[in-house]
Amino acid sequence: MKGYILFFGSFNPIHNAHINIAKTALNTFGSDYKLIFIPSPQNPFKSEEELWQIEKRVELIKAKLKEGGLDAVAEVSLVETTLAKPSYTINSIKKLREIYGETSDFVLLLGEDNLENLHLWKEAESLVNQLRIAVYPRNLVQNKNYKAFAFLSPFCKKHIDRFIFLKGDLYEDSATKIRNIEIGNTPEEWANLLALRGEKAEALRQKSREIKLKTIGDKVYLRGLVEYSNICAKNCYYCGIRKENKNIGRRYQVLEDEIIEAARFAHQEGFGSMVLQAGERQDADHAKKIESIIAKIMKVSNNELGITLSLGEQSKDVYKRWMDAGAKRYLLRIESSNRELYEKIHPSDSLHSFDERLKAIYTLKELGYQVGTGIMIGLPWQTNLDLAKDLEFFRSMSVDMVGMGPYIEHQETPLYAHRAEILPKNERYELCLNVYALLRILMPSINIASTTALASLSPNGREEAIRIAANVIMPNITPYRYRENYFLYQNKLCINESNEDAKQNIEALIERAGCRVAYFEHGDSLKFRKEHGLL
Ligand code: 5AD
Ligand code: SF4
Repeated sequence: MKGYILFFGSFNPIHNAHINIAKTALNTFGSDYKLIFIPSPQNPFKSEEELWQIEKRVELIKAKLKEGGLDAVAEVSLVETTLAKPSYTINSIKKLREIYGETSDFVLLLGEDNLENLHLWKEAESLVNQLRIAVYPRNLVQNKNYKAFAFLSPFCKKHIDRFIFLKGDLYEDSATKIRNIEIGNTPEEWANLLALRGEKAEALRQKSREIKLKTIGDKVYLRGLVEYSNICAKNCYYCGIRKENKNIGRRYQVLEDEIIEAARFAHQEGFGSMVLQAGERQDADHAKKIESIIAKIMKVSNNELGITLSLGEQSKDVYKRWMDAGAKRYLLRIESSNRELYEKIHPSDSLHSFDERLKAIYTLKELGYQVGTGIMIGLPWQTNLDLAKDLEFFRSMSVDMVGMGPYIEHQETPLYAHRAEILPKNERYELCLNVYALLRILMPSINIASTTALASLSPNGREEAIRIAANVIMPNITPYRYRENYFLYQNKLCINESNEDAKQNIEALIERAGCRVAYFEHGDSLKFRKEHGLL
């Protein structure tokens, strides 16, 4: 290798003009040269939101190089992230010489707008003496004449032999244009946004993150999740603990003492609230038992622990009793707000009626619960328009929270027969992140949970959702001996011995997402607090 063409920039994000510049430079210098993209790191003195995460920008650069057929002749260097800030080019060059060889031929690729003040750069003389500078035009579409020629500074004129002015089709395409994503007002427009991938998807997610930080800040609330029982009277076609699945091991119900112990733990650890989740049962014994458990949790936590229930459809009376006992929030996913789709993924009997489910959500609202609903993303037959309409449904119901996650196939369920009709995991994951982002943009002040099922699609799934949009996470605090029996879908996290949800892991996960844990807070949604004069 004869030399290296150094392309510094923020690449926030990389776009076609960068690729065209890179191609032109490579063509100009020939096959002995390699092009190095050197993205600038986040500047600690500037707001974090001005630049996208360096990891994301690098990922997009690599993807774009591949797409442009440049992956063999160009690479990315993270050298700038290792240097003190602000980073001066001369320092980066020194470091790059250590990496690529002290005597390597370096060509610095610069936009013409940099020439005017080049003499003010740190050690400018030394810089131009040790490398050549390839200049590309800016904001130039048809006119390929350089503005810079007419105004070339005395410094540049003095070193004119060091400059090479690139020619080529360097058409305009701006990072700003990519970042300024239009949201629109209709489900049809939203459906198009859900289909975005690559830099456009990142722009959508970044917009969501900015709105999230501006509206509700970087706090993430913890809810200790107890999967109270896998006994279920229903037969949803997608769910591993459906009544007719005889292959799920043991049916269990966590003992009351164990739940109280879990509540005490959550309370002491400052979780602020807990969630009781179980299969659906409408019998009187069950209702009574739950009522008693709620009262005991309230007692053991001095009425301090918030209680969220996720126990399916119940009569108004039962909902009321549970509320009187101390529960304040209720999660009841609509699963899909498209009636037709709902009916395809549930048996057609009165136990699985779409109307009843809808009615139950209304009842919960009427009783004054903070209501959460949600959907599964990536179901067979589900379209982007369905998902966009789900978001419209959340808005029209004015819900306080949303818990949604990917649909994950389960072998012992009827819907498994349609596994060939669902999106591959990576696509489902991308789609999920877009749905999270769009929901945050459309409902900035609600609570959004980063759900466990995301972890089945990507090891970073839960933290990505938090980085982008979510502000609630539900660490699993179900006693270990029950976990392998709460097997809603395949590859479910937390069913083996390692405690993925231990406090320090969750803290680290939230920190990686650029957020922080809010301990000892109930974590009512900003929307709820606003509507109830609690601000
Ligand atoms: N994949 C993803 N989520 C599932 N749930 C049930 N089965 C699956 C599955 N196969 C979700 C449903 C339900 C919640 C308790 O678990 O949305 O509301
Ligand atoms: Fe039961 Fe809920 Fe599973 Fe349906 S999704 S079978 S109601 S646990």
